Amino acid sequence: MNSIPQTSSGDLPGLHIRKMTEDDLEQVVAIDQVSFTLPWPLSSFHFEVKDNLSSRHWVAEMDGRILAMMVGWLIVDELHVATIATHPDYRGRGIGARLLVHALISARQEGVGRAFLEVREGNAVAMKMYRGLGFVEDGRREGYYADNHEDAILMSLNDLGRLQGE
Ligand SMILES: CC(C)(COP(=O)(O)OP(=O)(O)OC[C@H]1O[C@@H](n2cnc3c(N)ncnc32)[C@H](O)[C@@H]1OP(=O)(O)O)[C@@H](O)C(=O)NCCC(=O)NCCS
Repeated sequence: MNSIPQTSSGDLPGLHIRKMTEDDLEQVVAIDQVSFTLPWPLSSFHFEVKDNLSSRHWVAEMDGRILAMMVGWLIVDELHVATIATHPDYRGRGIGARLLVHALISARQEGVGRAFLEVREGNAVAMKMYRGLGFVEDGRREGYYADNHEDAILMSLNDLGRLQGE
């Protein structure tokens, strides 16, 4: 079985991945709003950062600007990727993949063995990213999304032990 590929952001040497804080939320919400048809309210991100003990939340930052964000939920020994988005101006430069690999490695260090997520059936770009990191499709939730009743494809990565590092 292949290892999960290493990721890089070679053209963004100042990129730094760190935990999301309350101070990031204005920029995080702005990225969320331009990225999703059903964005989360500010209060949801606030809950993740301040109150949800299961939440694992990360941002990719460069020169004080948040370029990408991700929230996951640690459920026993699994990581549920709840949301991930890169600012539209910075997509296609390896940031999303790098952020997700960072979160997966961190989860693995906490004893997580498996990661899973839902993705819109029509979101080919995200599915390609997930497949590239080793996620496989293993289910479908029909009409899952409230706005257009699009199906969700369930994807999972069943062996975080294969992670190589960033
Ligand atoms: C999905 C998303 C987070 C990817 O972030 P990104 O920073 O652009 O992704 P990366 O540059 O790290 O690309 C990772 C992989 O995704 C795929 N990918 C990225 N952009 C792509 C594009 N325009 N077309 C096809 N594949 C693409 C490729 O497989 C790429 O790997 P490669 O460069 O080795 O081929 C970003 O497109 C986004 O924010 N989309 C809107 C929100 C969203 O759909 N989130 C996922 C919800 S499940």
